[in-house]
Amino acid sequence: MAGYVSGMGGAAGSFGGPRVISIANQKGGVGKTTTAINLGTALAAVGERVLVLDLDPQGNASTGLGIAPEARVRTSYDVLVGESSLLEASLATAVPGLYVVPANNDLVGVEAALANDGTRPFKLRDAVSALIGQQRSRPQDTPFSYVLIDCPPSLNVLTLNAMSAAHAVLVPVQCEFFALEGISQLKDTIDQIRATLNPQLEIQGVVLTMHDQRTSLSREVAENVRAFFGPKVYETVIPRNTRVAEAPSHGKPILLYDYDCAGSQAYIRLATEIIERERRFKAA
Ligand SMILES: Nc1ncnc2c1ncn2[C@@H]1O[C@H](COP(=O)(O)OP(=O)(O)O)[C@@H](O)[C@H]1O
Ligand SMILES: [Mg+2]
Repeated sequence: MAGYVSGMGGAAGSFGGPRVISIANQKGGVGKTTTAINLGTALAAVGERVLVLDLDPQGNASTGLGIAPEARVRTSYDVLVGESSLLEASLATAVPGLYVVPANNDLVGVEAALANDGTRPFKLRDAVSALIGQQRSRPQDTPFSYVLIDCPPSLNVLTLNAMSAAHAVLVPVQCEFFALEGISQLKDTIDQIRATLNPQLEIQGVVLTMHDQRTSLSREVAENVRAFFGPKVYETVIPRNTRVAEAPSHGKPILLYDYDCAGSQAYIRLATEIIERERRFKAA
C-alpha cells in the first residue's frame, strides 16, 4: 500500500486509500464491537483518521459511539445497496478524528435486496474504491487512514462483503473454555476467501479479550490460542474490566469514559502494536 497515510493525521500527499480491517469472529460476545469502538478511538487518539463501519444489524457499535437510533438516517444498509456513499453515511463521533457509518435492523434485508445481484459480495469493496476516489478529489480534507469493519456474529453476506473489502482481518478471541471452537472454521473461511473473492486478505492479528489473570482457565486458553496462531497473536491482552462493559451504556468509548482504567490502557497498547505491524506489512 505505497503512499497510504499513517501517523499524525496524515497530509493527503500520495494518498493510496485507507487500510481496511475487518473485525470478525462468527461467535457472538467475544469482543468484536468493543474492539471496533475502542481500537478506533485509540487509533484516532494517536492522530489517525478512522471510520468505523457498523455491519451488525444490532447496531451496537453505533450505540456505543453515541449515535441515537433516530440519528441513523443513512446506514451501512444504504451503502451496501448502493443508495449512499460511505462519506455521505458517515457521522462524526465525540472523538476527534473518529467517524462511524451506523447500522440498524435494516441490514437484515441486505440478503434479499441483493438476491439477484451477481456482484453481491463486492458491494463494500466498490464503496471503499469510491471512497478513495472521492477523497483523492478532495485534497483539502484529511482522508481516512483506517476503516474498521465491525462484523456480525455469522458468516453471511455481510461478513463476506467485509472480507472482500478488507486488506486484513482482526480476530478477537475471548479467553473462555470454548474459545477455539469455531476458530478453525473461521481460519478455513479466510483461506477460502483468499482463494476466491480476495487474494490479498491476510490475518492482521488475533487479540485475546476478556482475560482474567486470576483464573488458570484464562491463562490456559491464552496459551492454546498462542500455540494455534503463533506470532499472529498480539502481545497485548485485553483484560476483563467492568469499566469496559459499562462504557457503551453511556454511549462512550472506554478512553472517554475512564482513560486510566486497565481496559483503556490495553486498547492504547493494542493500537500501538497494530500500527507497528502495519509498518512491517508496508515494508515487506
Ligand atoms: N474487556 C472487557 N471487559 C468486560 N466486558 C467486556 C470486555 N469486552 C467486551 N465486554 C462485554 O462483553 C459483551 C460482548 O462484547 P461485544 O464487544 O459486544 O462482543 P461481540 O461484538 O463479539 O458480540 C458486551 O456486553 C461487552 O460490553
Ligand atoms: Mg458485536
